[in-house]
Amino acid sequence: MSRTLIRGGLVITAAEEVHADVLVEDESVVALAATGSTVAEGWTADTVIDAAGKYVIPGGVDAHTHMELPFGGTFASDTFETGTRAAAWGGTTTIVDFAVQSVGESLRAGLDTWHAKAEGNCAVDYAFHMIVSDVDENSLKEMDLLVEEGVTSFKLFMAYPGVFYSDDGRILRAMQRGADNGGLIMMHAENGIAIDVLVEQALAAGRTDPRYHGEVRRELLEAEATHRAVRLAEVAGAPLYVVHVSAQQAVAELATARDRGLNVFGETCPQYLFLSTDNLAEPDFEGAKYVCSTPLRPKEHQAALWRGLRTNDLQVVSTDHCPFCFVGQKELGRGDFSKIPNGLPGVENRMDLLHQAVVDGHISRRRWIEIACATPARMFGLYPRKGTIAPGADADIVIYDPDAEQVVSAATHHMNVDYSAYEGKHVRGKARTVISRGTVVVDQDRYLGRAGHGRYQTRETCQYLV
Ligand code: URP
Ligand code: ZN
Ligand code: ZN
Repeated sequence: MSRTLIRGGLVITAAEEVHADVLVEDESVVALAATGSTVAEGWTADTVIDAAGKYVIPGGVDAHTHMELPFGGTFASDTFETGTRAAAWGGTTTIVDFAVQSVGESLRAGLDTWHAKAEGNCAVDYAFHMIVSDVDENSLKEMDLLVEEGVTSFKLFMAYPGVFYSDDGRILRAMQRGADNGGLIMMHAENGIAIDVLVEQALAAGRTDPRYHGEVRRELLEAEATHRAVRLAEVAGAPLYVVHVSAQQAVAELATARDRGLNVFGETCPQYLFLSTDNLAEPDFEGAKYVCSTPLRPKEHQAALWRGLRTNDLQVVSTDHCPFCFVGQKELGRGDFSKIPNGLPGVENRMDLLHQAVVDGHISRRRWIEIACATPARMFGLYPRKGTIAPGADADIVIYDPDAEQVVSAATHHMNVDYSAYEGKHVRGKARTVISRGTVVVDQDRYLGRAGHGRYQTRETCQYLV
């Protein structure tokens, strides 16, 4: 048995902040005791980590990533190996990635493909949601089996007709199934049919630059789809989790639904909190670096997102990490914004950007841990194994230096992508030591992890349902 002792840090969880020593045996946290107490002073260990002046926080849980996602004729540029290594560097110790059912394929086949991509390659722990692209009798039955084996959430798309899109009837059927089997429906809420009309009209009028991606994907079409998804979930009696919320009108729909007592949840992402349509409008096709869906919005929307995070109308910040290199991938859309692969890199940046939000006064320290660690773990059935520091939890722990200064840059990041969406941004705070299930994987700017350390995590159903 190996024992690790983390001494003298400020332990921050979603529930409390306490100066405590943390004792780890093998892969688990076994005890916490007040720093300087006789109990803590009596502990011995093989490895002692001095955390004085640092935060001791749970490893981040990023509940929305797309490693190697096929999109627009290319693949997201991070593999499970490179993407989870970058996650570790940034203090994230669990990802939940999206396995994809292609049209005409079974859920099982899609899930097997994702297991094959990930197994033996991950630096940190991982789990899967399932994208359902083809709702039929067979896939509805398969949803039951997946919930039983620990894949307890299913993403459906109101966007991307002809690829991932489901019509309202299919969505309703999947929601009804989720209501029965406990699976949580995750919704990409944009009216893709209407958006495609606007795309066609924009291109016909010669509006081909990246900024038109943002203009045609209208705020109202996110709000309308969000409203419709809420109503369909209500009819089905199912819970609903809306992914990558970016428009203030969509936040308002979620707030209304929650005020009515519905089991409706919302996630936003760092790109919507820190970036805007100003980035999409950058000249010389640079705006392509910021093409994602839902799209970046005018800056004014950021206040509503921060407010939603403070009032709990939004509960989770995930990255929607879906990187495509500028050279050779984003460039596929030169002359036609609709051909730019959708997605931004961010799995390495999320914990730091949200700590910067603490520094900037948008959220408290405990809310930082709640939206980035505890709530995603609870939402997707991983708590208290993940998302907190408590006896019995996995020893996924980050020793975080709140005073370190960093400048975010592609020159220093570890994601397999040739640009950073946050290039040049100054952030305060940095993960100094990252522990995944008791193993130090990053320490003082050295990577000590290995592909294959990360283990597949089966999940319980959502732990927030009333
Ligand atoms: O632009 C995005 N979000 N790309 C990834 C696919 C998705 O819709 O989440
Ligand atoms: Zn989506
Ligand atoms: Zn996504």
